[in-house]
Amino acid sequence: MVPDGVKRLMSSGWEVTIESSAGAAASFPDSAYEAAGATVTEDLDSASSGADLVVKVNALTLDEARVFPSDTAVLSFLQPAASLESLNELVKKRSTVFSFDLLPRISRAQGMDALSSQATVSGYRAALVGAEHLGKFFPMFMTAAGTVPPAKVLVMGVGVAGLQAIATARRLGAVVRAYDVRSAAKEEAESLGATFVDLGVSAEGSGGYARELSEEEQQKQRDALSAEVAVSDVVITTAAVPGRAAPLLVTREMVEGMSQGAIVVDMAADSGGNCEVTEVGKVVEVDGVSVVGMENPPSGMATHASFLYSRNVLNFVGLLVRDGSMNPDFNDEIVLGTCVVRDGQVVHGPTSDLIADSRAEGSS
Ligand code: NAI
Repeated sequence: MVPDGVKRLMSSGWEVTIESSAGAAASFPDSAYEAAGATVTEDLDSASSGADLVVKVNALTLDEARVFPSDTAVLSFLQPAASLESLNELVKKRSTVFSFDLLPRISRAQGMDALSSQATVSGYRAALVGAEHLGKFFPMFMTAAGTVPPAKVLVMGVGVAGLQAIATARRLGAVVRAYDVRSAAKEEAESLGATFVDLGVSAEGSGGYARELSEEEQQKQRDALSAEVAVSDVVITTAAVPGRAAPLLVTREMVEGMSQGAIVVDMAADSGGNCEVTEVGKVVEVDGVSVVGMENPPSGMATHASFLYSRNVLNFVGLLVRDGSMNPDFNDEIVLGTCVVRDGQVVHGPTSDLIADSRAEGSS
């Protein structure tokens, strides 16, 4: 939460305790939270033991889950598949767990859509990272010394982040091409001034998401993409499939085929990377091409990433309160869809299956 969010929560009747230095890296010092009316504490255990709701960015770690008080609710990004051990602890504690990853993508939920708000920050950052590493201008320049052509940017994966990367690269004056496996992405990319690359591979999944491609489709895609990648100054990759590792779109061979000084910005580095040579948080050089593996991209613009997250939290928390106390309405499709564990019962089907599988593996 940012201090403004704390103030708004308090004016709607909540008491708020903040972990000391929680906002420091986003330029919000403890004093700003105190001025907003919050209690700032080093002692998280006692603060959370009296809480109705604990709000975080990422899932509780296993250590945090072990000391988490019983009968308490927690809201964060969770990625249930990566948090099974912590979830098992929370089940034992009769916790209620909400995960922003599962928020239904419906109009009424847009103000709470933390996936989208953080993807907006990430896409913007990805374009800037590309511009910063490239030893060329993004815009065309007609100067007395001669004319400089605009940079060619290719954006792969045109979801929320990809669209923001396109918009930002276009604002900087680059010529942008974009590619996605969902056909709806074509119109969206074109509305922002990009040219859509149609490779003849379509993979519409459910809920507006992409499905995973077969090995044959992936090969067809990579063959067709090689020529596009080779002529790009900057390739920005944002492709994701929910619950799966990021799809591999840019092979080492494709990187080797790019021009000296070209850049690949891999925004999917944290979930395995869209590029074969990506290393999280590092810039890898291959034959004069730099591959930037963005680590936790929203944290590169922490003030506004936090501002937006705080607003998402505030809007969601509004659904958890009835008659002045914490009493979520589980008939509301947003509350229900976002809930992974309710009073110690796993209510999200896919997570329940994963937990059952992990317990079966543990006992065999
Ligand atoms: P995401 O983060 O899950 O994936 C990013 C992009 O990668 C997607 O566009 C996906 O199609 C693409 N992708 C996956 N595999 C690929 C491959 N092999 N090659 C190329 N591209 C690949 O997506 P995000 O940003 O979460 O958006 C998912 C959907 O949700 C979109 O349809 C978006 O319009 C929709 N949405 C709806 C909202 C609402 O109605 N409230 C809010 C936000 C998003």
